[in-house]
Amino acid sequence: MAPTSARLAERLAGVVPGTGEPVVVELGPGTGPTTAAVQHRLAGRGRHLAVELDPVLARHVAREHPGAEVVVGDAAALGDLLAERDIPEVDAAVSGLPWSLIRPETQRAILDAVARALRPGAPFTTIAYLHALPMDGARRFRALLDEVFDEVLTTRTVWRNLPPAVSYVCRRPCSRVGHDG
Ligand SMILES: C[S@@+](CC[C@H](N)C(=O)[O-])C[C@H]1O[C@@H](n2cnc3c(N)ncnc32)[C@H](O)[C@@H]1O
Repeated sequence: MAPTSARLAERLAGVVPGTGEPVVVELGPGTGPTTAAVQHRLAGRGRHLAVELDPVLARHVAREHPGAEVVVGDAAALGDLLAERDIPEVDAAVSGLPWSLIRPETQRAILDAVARALRPGAPFTTIAYLHALPMDGARRFRALLDEVFDEVLTTRTVWRNLPPAVSYVCRRPCSRVGHDG
């Protein structure tokens, strides 16, 4: 998969509040294009925690984007990662995670952790590749988003991404999510 284009990264970062001191969590920054877009949108405001499983990529992103707090960790452990940093809730969550490579139980665990972390009304956004949308895995993932969130909106296609992609913007976790542990 080619790196996320600046255009798509900008689309994802668009959910970050444009005013105030928002706390943003980014999952799976990879080589950092979305990190760059989030940092650009924050322009020195708030706090930006980026959670990356791969220590080599995490080091790279930390070096390139000193304004972000890059953590080597698993998105499924988001609750603990936030608690360790005294972050009770976040104002936006942005994902570059490769959902098609993640087992459904882990997908659910990650989405539940995100849902629990979001302040009321705060958005979670993630990428979906256009060519994959009809595939079983992508349909299951979309159904999972609908289970976890009351609102799931699909944005317009970013054709200038390789491959072309949409993003989902999710809000209002369904109430039972907070009680799953
Ligand atoms: C598709 S890449 C990110 C793409 C990124 N936008 C780019 O252009 O480089 C997905 C990233 O998610 C990371 N990742 C996968 N599973 C993860 C997990 N459970 N927690 C945190 N990061 C994870 C991978 O190591 C990889 O760097």
